[in-house]
Amino acid sequence: EEGRRRQRLLDLNRDAARFYYQLLQQPEGEAVREYLSRRQIRKATAVKFGMGASSDAWDVLLTAMTKKGYTKSELLESGLVVQNKNGGLYDKFRNRLMLPVVDTRGNVVAFGSRVLDKSEPKYMNSSETPVYSKRRVLYGLNLAKKTKRPNMILCEGNLDIVTLHQAGFDNAVASMGTALTVEQTRLLARFTKELVLCYDNDNAGKIATERALQILDQSEFSVKVLQLPRRLVDGESVKQDADDFIKFQGPDAFERLLSGSENGVEFRMAQVAGKYDLTSDEARVAYCEEISQLLSSLPNAVEREIYTARAAEAARISPEAMTLEVRQAFKRRA
Ligand code: CTP
Ligand code: MN
Ligand code: MN
Ligand code: MN
Ligand code: MN
Repeated sequence: EEGRRRQRLLDLNRDAARFYYQLLQQPEGEAVREYLSRRQIRKATAVKFGMGASSDAWDVLLTAMTKKGYTKSELLESGLVVQNKNGGLYDKFRNRLMLPVVDTRGNVVAFGSRVLDKSEPKYMNSSETPVYSKRRVLYGLNLAKKTKRPNMILCEGNLDIVTLHQAGFDNAVASMGTALTVEQTRLLARFTKELVLCYDNDNAGKIATERALQILDQSEFSVKVLQLPRRLVDGESVKQDADDFIKFQGPDAFERLLSGSENGVEFRMAQVAGKYDLTSDEARVAYCEEISQLLSSLPNAVEREIYTARAAEAARISPEAMTLEVRQAFKRRA
């Protein structure tokens, strides 16, 4: 019975995906087609990701799915149809680019969606349902699981994945804005042993990277961090994500960043170094304090020695003094 109910929800999501897909090819899909072309997403890519369009009318999905025999309670349970205060039903997604979320078995379990202009909310996703738990799904993994590349790239956004796949990086997946979860790392572990974190290079992205590193510290993955450079626009440095970078610098430049990506320790050390102006003596002292905390947390003695030497060089102090600092920090920890 439970299994039958789940299957009905999956069927409904599949039928809805077909409905949105067909709408994209029709005159009504013109605005979304224009949006895709503005974002340089090719037709073949849109097809590969099963993209669609939702109408700006209030009830076209509701009508079409009711005609197919889905009940009111099934429609509400899927979250694709919602109810107003007076009990009236209407389509949740309207006038958006629709991005089906497909699990590794090929089931459409949910939808992500994006507005076509600057209005809010920019992204709207399916609510949690019996077939969709966002902490257990990664956008694009249904495609990325077939990659021949040795690793997987983890990004924030749906369209980062689309652009990466289109540019030949068919090993990219996204956590769709949420922090990486333990469940997602277990899922990834079935397909790869090596992860490259590639979050947006704004503050939120840096925090998300640090969180992900913490979760991955307890895993068997080999982890790298691909740091996207900021982009100069009229002398001002602006943030960019993988999608922006590929658009402005191209796939070859991304491939170079990928092969040059640092490990987690290097990323964390760079974060600490970025906080201090190492030309002042006070800052050098403070830097040594903070970096020795970080270094003392490394479980591997060889690793500890290598990075201690590197930190000493950055602060322009002797490796001996730095080693002493790290040892003291280690003792405080124990
Ligand atoms: N997200 C979300 N709800 C929002 C904003 C973001 O669910 N209101 C998720 C989406 O999956 C989005 C991801 O978080 O792709 C990353 O957010 P952000 O970097 O802000 O968006 P981009 O993917 O860069 O969006 P775009 O390039 O389309 O402007
Ligand atoms: Mn972001
Ligand atoms: Mn973006
Ligand atoms: Mn982004
Ligand atoms: Mn953005």
